[in-house]
Amino acid sequence: MTDFHHALHSLRVWDTELPSFDPAGAPPEPLALFHGWFTEAVAAGQTEPHTLSLATVDEDGRPDVRTVMLHDADERGWHFASHATSAKGRQLAARPEAALGFYWPVQGRQVRIRGTVTTGTPEEAYADLHARTTGALASALVGRQSEVLDSPETLAEASAAAWRRAEAEPDAPSPTWTLYVVQPTEVEFFQGDARRRHLRLRYRRTDERWIRELLWP
Ligand SMILES: Cc1cc2nc3c(=O)[nH]c(=O)nc-3n(C[C@H](O)[C@H](O)[C@H](O)COP(=O)(O)O)c2cc1C
Repeated sequence: MTDFHHALHSLRVWDTELPSFDPAGAPPEPLALFHGWFTEAVAAGQTEPHTLSLATVDEDGRPDVRTVMLHDADERGWHFASHATSAKGRQLAARPEAALGFYWPVQGRQVRIRGTVTTGTPEEAYADLHARTTGALASALVGRQSEVLDSPETLAEASAAAWRRAEAEPDAPSPTWTLYVVQPTEVEFFQGDARRRHLRLRYRRTDERWIRELLWP
């Protein structure tokens, strides 16, 4: 066996005590349950529970996925931010639909969201960017996300210049920085169970209300 296979096969999931989840007591709308589960993930010591997988499709219908940070979750939907000129930004402009995935292994929990994507106003994008750290601003000022880079040295120069600018000019704009909001049509909460009797609760949006249904695991 190779080191890789040895390492892979030595792994188990959910060696900890998993929380219980009673779908019958779940709120009528998914946002409240997401807020509750998120808060519990933080309290349980889950590292970086605000990182999520964002799936989009390109113009040929081929899926793409990457990690982004959650910036908010409210009545409008789930918020993240990125450059409109990035691969994801171009994909979302052509096809404004996305799927999001959160995985919180400390509790054996997964949340999946599917929905349509809208962009916030330029003022919201500006506010989003400037509510964050100097490093986040510097990173956004570098720009050119998803373009081909000729060398690490070119990045080092651009990054150093962006850091200098972010420190000297904390109000500097990054015109391509965009706030995206995923308005959910489906939200699924998965609670892992040690005996593999996992609970899956899906909220499905119909005209004016959410339908709740259990799914076979
Ligand atoms: C933990 C983590 C958080 C990230 N957060 C963001 C983010 O909030 N926004 C963003 O544009 N890229 C973020 N990235 C980088 C993306 O994963 C990705 O590399 C980048 O956005 C380019 O993706 P694209 O070429 O599909 O557009 C993050 C990466 C990691 C590993």
